Amino acid sequence: MDVRVADAKIYSFESELIVVGLFVPAQITSELKAIDEKLHGAIAHVLKRKEFEGEYGQNRLISTLDKIPAKNILLLGLGKKEDASLEMLRKAAGASAKIVRDYCGVTDYATALHQLEVPGTTLESRSQAVAEGSWLGAYQYLKYRTVERQKIKSITKVTLLGGVESAVHKGVIIAECACLVRDLANEPASNRHPKELADVAKEQEKLGVKVAVHDKKSIEQLGLTALLAVSRGSVHEPRFVIMEYNGGGKKVAIVGKGITFDSGGLDIKTDEGMLTMKHDMCGAATVIATVRAAALLKLKVNLIGVFASTENMPGMDAYKPGDIIRTYSGKTIEVANTDAEGRVVLSDALAYTEKNFKPEMMVDLATLTGACVVALGGVCAGVMGTNQDLISKLLESGTATGERLWQLPFFREYHEQIKSEFADVRNLGIIRREAGAITAGAFLAAFVEKTPWAHLDIAGTSWSECDIDYTKKGGTGFGVRLLVHFLERA
Ligand code: BES
Ligand code: ZN
Ligand code: ZN
Repeated sequence: MDVRVADAKIYSFESELIVVGLFVPAQITSELKAIDEKLHGAIAHVLKRKEFEGEYGQNRLISTLDKIPAKNILLLGLGKKEDASLEMLRKAAGASAKIVRDYCGVTDYATALHQLEVPGTTLESRSQAVAEGSWLGAYQYLKYRTVERQKIKSITKVTLLGGVESAVHKGVIIAECACLVRDLANEPASNRHPKELADVAKEQEKLGVKVAVHDKKSIEQLGLTALLAVSRGSVHEPRFVIMEYNGGGKKVAIVGKGITFDSGGLDIKTDEGMLTMKHDMCGAATVIATVRAAALLKLKVNLIGVFASTENMPGMDAYKPGDIIRTYSGKTIEVANTDAEGRVVLSDALAYTEKNFKPEMMVDLATLTGACVVALGGVCAGVMGTNQDLISKLLESGTATGERLWQLPFFREYHEQIKSEFADVRNLGIIRREAGAITAGAFLAAFVEKTPWAHLDIAGTSWSECDIDYTKKGGTGFGVRLLVHFLERA
């Protein structure tokens, strides 16, 4: 797909279709006036008859009958101007890409959504948001479609009339990286084992990123014994991957959970619980994609991307409830439930990263708990950690990018709950059903010594069951936009 900018007006640009946004109450703006006159008042007529009022999500296709070079104008309702934001523009851009493709049957179109004035935004930021939304909205996962492929329409080109070129370019890079996460999340687990995930990281070497991939033998030498314990139930070998991008500036580490399939292990999940567990590697995929974005955007940051990847399977030698396992840090873990595997592999990844890279700050991303899905759903991700300044910066980036976070409390009492009778910590809170997202975070905290650290529980935001705005059913790519914004300000 090609997203570009043209220095042209709606009334002079030749296109199959141009998307024009209108706030409530829909009125003929000064720019629309010139077009509407050429169309002999066709738009004013629709507005007068209240066939289109500008409510959010409303749309109306108007044929220009060749009175202007564009063949059609798609009016898109944006709701109230006072509710408008960059995220609203991003959503509108995503929704319009789908309407254009699926209902208008057009694959090459233009948009003027970014031209609308939204309080507190610039043409630059609006251009980036519309580019991101269009790209994300046009996303389709077609790899395994074989029937009537020629009938499947895909957007090939979007032109932003009067957009800021550098901002559009940036938006496309960020959205392309988010779609890499989507592709990886949507890929069936049986075709994308830890090795294949590591291969995608390795591909980023082309961008000048240093990538070290550790296989099972090398993981044994490094002493990542918690990662090895979880991987024992699988016939596919684990991988531990370290990516380094040196753009100068602060040294920041991002660490991801890369469970390529989470069956639950011996504490096996139900059919419903297991159905979407191919996406349990979204933390790792977001790490890969964020390092890629940082390199493409030449961000001024020294970024270390780390992920631990394995399947969680109930194979013959699987780790068992009641086992006590050693970790890289030296601490021991009582396995209270083999389905709480993400925190076990992250314990090694976090401790290894802190000890060997001594970053100035560390952020981990993990589809860690069902409890976080229950608490926050897909609306925002949970954030907790040891440094309020870091958490506040992440919260700000979340608000700015529309990838929102909600801070969960991290009181001492929660940390008490992961103490074990038999080992240093247990991988489940004493009272299983209480504060599951927070006790999982508290467990991770036991493996971070002094580095300012924040944990993002992306279990609810990484996968979507619905197809709305710029989101498609499946992997969402959550986290890339948020982290790029954060790293730009780190
Ligand atoms: N990968 C899951 C968490 C998850 C659930 C992610 C739903 C995305 C959607 C994690 O490994 C897990 O199984 N957690 C258990 C922990 C429990 C055994 C303490 C859970 O949340 O049920
Ligand atoms: Zn699990
Ligand atoms: Zn898991």
